[in-house]
Amino acid sequence: MCNKSTDSNNLSNSLNCKKSLSVALVAHVDHGKTTLARSLISQLTQEKAVTLLDNMSVEQMRGITIKSKLLTLFTKIENDFELVVNLVDTPGHVDFYAETQRSMLVTDLILILVDSTKGLQAQSIANFNLATELKRDIIFVITKIDVSSSDAKKTIEQIKVLRGENPFSIVEVSAKTGVGMPNLLKVLFSKSRKISKQIVNKFQAFIFDAFYDEYLGVVFLVRIMAGKLKLHDVVRINNSIKQIKVDNLGKITTSGFKKLTNLSEGELGYVCCSLKKIEFDYLGGFLTKANETFEQAILSYKPAKPILFSNIYPLVKDDYGKLKKAIEKLGLNDCSVSIEPESSKTMGFGFKCGFMGSLHLEVFLQRLEDEHKLDCITSVPSVEYEVKLKTGETIFVKSANAWPGQNLIEKVSEQFVKVTIITDAKFLGNVMTLLTENRGEFLNLEYIDQQNVNITASLPLIELISGFAESLKSVSSGYASLSYELTTMRETQLEKLDILIGGEVVESLSSLVYAPHAVQKGRKIVSTLKESIPRQLFEVAIQAAIGKKVIARETVKALRKDVLAKCYGGDITRKKKLLEKQKRGKERMQQFGKVKVPKEAFIAVLKIQ
Ligand code: GTP
Repeated sequence: MCNKSTDSNNLSNSLNCKKSLSVALVAHVDHGKTTLARSLISQLTQEKAVTLLDNMSVEQMRGITIKSKLLTLFTKIENDFELVVNLVDTPGHVDFYAETQRSMLVTDLILILVDSTKGLQAQSIANFNLATELKRDIIFVITKIDVSSSDAKKTIEQIKVLRGENPFSIVEVSAKTGVGMPNLLKVLFSKSRKISKQIVNKFQAFIFDAFYDEYLGVVFLVRIMAGKLKLHDVVRINNSIKQIKVDNLGKITTSGFKKLTNLSEGELGYVCCSLKKIEFDYLGGFLTKANETFEQAILSYKPAKPILFSNIYPLVKDDYGKLKKAIEKLGLNDCSVSIEPESSKTMGFGFKCGFMGSLHLEVFLQRLEDEHKLDCITSVPSVEYEVKLKTGETIFVKSANAWPGQNLIEKVSEQFVKVTIITDAKFLGNVMTLLTENRGEFLNLEYIDQQNVNITASLPLIELISGFAESLKSVSSGYASLSYELTTMRETQLEKLDILIGGEVVESLSSLVYAPHAVQKGRKIVSTLKESIPRQLFEVAIQAAIGKKVIARETVKALRKDVLAKCYGGDITRKKKLLEKQKRGKERMQQFGKVKVPKEAFIAVLKIQ
C-alpha cells in the first residue's frame, strides 16, 4: 500500500509507490538551465546526458539552447519507490520564448533559475509572471553559488520582493560543484504526485513539440491531458476527418526511445503514427480518439505571432526543391516560424518566412546550412506595416518589395512594443540616451533594490529588432537585460530605400526605413557594400535611392587581376590550387547584371539593419 505522505523527509514511507513529477527549467539566457538539467540527470540516474541536451550543432557553436528538450527519467529512490521525472530544459533567449511557454503549459512545476552573480533579469520577471498566470507551482533556484562574484543574499532579497506573499520555495545550488543539489532534490520530491489510476473516458493529448525522424516519420511530443492512449488506437489531429493509427508510443529517456504500450493522464511522452507528410499546424494542436467528438481545448494555447519577416532564396537557383523540403522539416520543429512561397524577378523562387527576432532568423539560416547543406540569401528583414491606401483599402506589408508606392498611400502605421529593462542605476543615463536615439518614450522607473532599476518604455518594434538589444548590452557594460511585449500600432512615415549595384536594383537589399533616417541609413549601406564587394574588371557603382533620387553613392574601382601572376615559374599544383580557391569563391556569389556579389556582402548589410 502506498503511504499518503509526500513529505521529502519521509520518503521511505512511500514504498511501493509510483509518483511523477513534470518539471520545466526556465530562466534568463545563460543562468545555468542546461548545466542544472545535466546535474539533475546524473544525480537521479547516474547517467551522463551530455549528448542529449544542446545536441544541435548550432547550439554547441553558440553555447545557447534553441529547442526545449524533454527527457523522462525513471528513478528508483528506495526499494519499490519509483519516481518518474519529466524534465524539460528550455531556451533562455527571448526569440525562443514560444518554446519556453509551451514547456510551461505541459509541466506542473516550474524551476525559475536566477544566476546569483547577476540577480533578477528582465526574463526572470517575464517567466515568473507567466508561471503565476498559469497557476503553476514554482521553485526559485539560485544558481552558480560557487562563483566568487556570487551574491546569493542579494538575489534572495530581490526574489522575495518579486514573490510577495506567495510561499514559493527558494533553493541555492551550484550545479558545477553539487553544493545544494541534495536539498533541491528533497524539495523536488516533496512536490511529486501519485500517478493517477483513475482513467476518464474522453481522451485528449496536447502536442507541444514535434520533429521528423527518417525512420519513424513525424514524432509528436505530447502531454496526455485526459484519458489514456494505447498502442494501435486510432486518433485524429485537431478534429480533422483524417484518421491515423498510433504505431509507436512511449518516453524519451537518456538511452533513447523507450517503447510503451500506453500513456496515461498527466504523462509526457512521444507518439508516432507513421506520418511521412509534414503539415505545419501540428504544434499546439490536440490528438483525440477517432470515435470521439472534439472537446473544447483544455489549455488556452496561443500560438506565437512572428514579428520579423525575411525572404529566403537558395544561392544556387536549382536548389529550390531542396530548400522547400528543408524548410518544411525545420517548420515542423519550430512552430513560431511562418512560411509562405515567394518569388522575385532577380532572386527567383524562395520563401517568405516570419521569425520571433533576428537571432531566430540567424539560427534558422544556420540550421539550413548545417543540417541541410544549403547556402541561402535573405532579403533585408522587415516588420509588418499597416498601410491605408487612398482607395480606402487597408493592406499589411511585410517586405520592401510589396510596398505599394508613396503616391497610393494615405497613412502608414507601425507596431510599438513595451520594453522592460533591468539595469544597474549607474547606467540609467546611457539607457535613456539609447531609448531617445531609437525613438523610444520613457514610461516608468522603479527601484528593485538599492542598486538596480526596472525601466519600462515604449519603442517601435523595428528599432527593437535592429540591434537595440546589442546596443543596450554595450552601453551598460553587458549588465542590462531586456524583455518586451507587443502593444499598439501608431502612425509613422516610411520610405522605400533601394540599393542599386552596377545600375541594377538588388531586390533583396531594398528596405523600408523611417523617412527622417533614410539618408543616414543609405550612406551606411553603400559604404558597407563597398567594403564587401571585391574589385572587378570594371568600375562598379553602388547607389542608395528613394524612387528615382539617388541619396548615397560609393564606387568600387576597376582592377585587372591576374590570379596566376604570383605563380611565375610553372608550379602547376600551385596554379591549380589558386584556380580551385577562386572557383569556390565564385560558387558563393550572385550575379547582378555584369556584377558578382558575394554572399558575405548580403550578410554584412543584414548586420547593419
Ligand atoms: P541558455 O540555454 O543559452 O539560456 O543557457 P543556460 O541557462 O542553459 O545556461 P548554461 O547551463 O549553458 O550555463 C551558462 C554558463 O554558466 C556556462 O558557461 C556554464 O558552464 C556556467 N554555469 C552554469 N551553472 C554553473 C555553476 O553552478 N557554477 C559555475 N561556476 N558555472 C556555471
